[in-house]
Amino acid sequence: MEKLMISGGRPLEGVVQISGAKNSAIALLPAAILAESTVILDNLPRLSDVAVYTEILEELGASVEWSDNQIIIDPSRIRSIPMPNGPVKKLRASYYMMGALLGRFGEATIGLPGGCNFEPRPIDQHIKGFEALGATVTNEHGAIHLHAKELKGAKIYLDVSSVGATINIMLAAARAKGSTTIENAAKEPEIIDVATLLNSMGASIKGAGTETIRIEGVKEMKGCRHSIIPDRIQAGTYLIAAAATRGNVLVDGVIPKHLEALTAKLIEMGVTVEELDESIRVIGASRYEHVDVKALVYPGFPTDMQSPMTSLLTQAEGVSILSDFVYSNRFKHVPELVRMGAKIRVEGRSAIIEGGKLNSAKVKAADLRAGAALVIAGLTVEEGVTEISGVELIDRGYDNLVTNLRALGADVWRQEE
Ligand code: EPU
Repeated sequence: MEKLMISGGRPLEGVVQISGAKNSAIALLPAAILAESTVILDNLPRLSDVAVYTEILEELGASVEWSDNQIIIDPSRIRSIPMPNGPVKKLRASYYMMGALLGRFGEATIGLPGGCNFEPRPIDQHIKGFEALGATVTNEHGAIHLHAKELKGAKIYLDVSSVGATINIMLAAARAKGSTTIENAAKEPEIIDVATLLNSMGASIKGAGTETIRIEGVKEMKGCRHSIIPDRIQAGTYLIAAAATRGNVLVDGVIPKHLEALTAKLIEMGVTVEELDESIRVIGASRYEHVDVKALVYPGFPTDMQSPMTSLLTQAEGVSILSDFVYSNRFKHVPELVRMGAKIRVEGRSAIIEGGKLNSAKVKAADLRAGAALVIAGLTVEEGVTEISGVELIDRGYDNLVTNLRALGADVWRQEE
C-alpha cells in the first residue's frame, strides 16, 4: 500500500489537462454490451475503476483492447453468465451490468455492488424500474437475479432523481418492446453522454438532460465510436486546489457550463475565474469571503465536490455552512480535516466551517472525494509533510494525480507505507 506525501504551501501554477469523466466511462463500458458489434470509446480515463470494468467485460466474453485513452470493445461473444462475486464486488457502478445484461439477454445475476460506502446507498429505484419493464428481481445470498421473458416499455416515475437508476433504466429500456418514459429523471451531463452513445448505437432516446426521458425500444443495436465528456469533478477539484493554494491554474479540456455551480461559488468567495471555450482559469486571492453551499442534484452544486469544497472553505474568513441535500452524511473527510487543525463541526446534513490555517498530520482517505479533500488541505499547509493513506481510493477517480500536481509546482510524492 502506498501513501501520498504532500509538502504544501506552494501556489499551484500552470496548465492541467482534464481526462474523460469517470462516472460516464463506467456507464458507457457496460452500455457497449447492448451492441452486437465493436464499440470504440475515446478519451477514456486511466483509472482503477475503469480497469475493473474491463475485467468484468472480459469475464463475460467480450474482447477488449485498451491503449492510451482509447478502448475497443467487441461484445459479439458476450453471454450473460452469473457474476455473484469477483470484480463486480469492487465497484459500485457494477449495478449497470444489471440494466445492460437485462436489455441484451433478458437475464442477469450480479453481486451487490461495492464502491465508496460513505453511507447506505440504496438501489430500490433501479429495481423499481426493472420491475416496471417486466423483469422479476430477487435478491439471494447477496446477489441480484433479474429475469424477463420480454421487456416491455413502461412509464416510470423515480422517487428520487437518481443518476444510477436513470442510466440503468435507459440501458434496459433501449432494447425493450415499445416506449418507456422516465419521469423525475436525473439531469447530470453523464446521462446525456450515455444517451448519446446509445443513440449512436441505434437506440431512440429523447430528452436526456431534462426530467423526462423517452425511450423507444429497438430490436438491434450496433457498434459505433464515441468520445467521453470531460470529467467535471476532476476539473472542479483542480479549480478548487488552485484557489486553495492561491495559485493561477488553467484547467484545460473542460465544458465550462458543467462547472457553473462551482465557478459561481468561487467568484462569490473572491476567486478570479476566467471562462474560455474549453478551459477555465482560476487566479487565487490573498483573502476569501465565507460562503454557504448547498449540494443538490445537477445543475446544483455537485455532492462529489462538497468534500473538496470543505477544504477550500477552511481558507475563507469567517464561518461557512456547507449542506449536502443529496447524501445526508457524506462527511468522512471532516474528522481528518479536524486532525489537520480545521475548525469544522457537523450538524445534521451540514458542515459548519470556520476559516483558519491547517497543519500537517497523518490522515486517512475514507472514500474517493474525502481523499481529494485531504489532498487540497495538504497543499495549503505551510509547514511539515501531510501523509495521506488510502491512496487507492483516490486512484479510483483521479488519473495522473501526482504527475499533474507536480507539473503545477506542488511537492507531492507517493511512498510505500
Ligand atoms: N437513491 C435512492 N435509491 C436509489 C438510488 C439512489 O434512494 O435507488 C438516493 C441515494 O441514496 C442518494 C440519491 O438518491 O441520496 C442520489 O443517488 P444517485 O443514485 O444519483 O447516486 P449514484 O448514481 O449511485 C452517482 C455517482 C456518484 C455521485 C452521485 C450523485 C456514479 C458511479 N456515481 O452515484 O459519484 O455522488 O451519482 O451525483 O456515477 C463519486 O464519483 O465519488 C461518486 C460517489
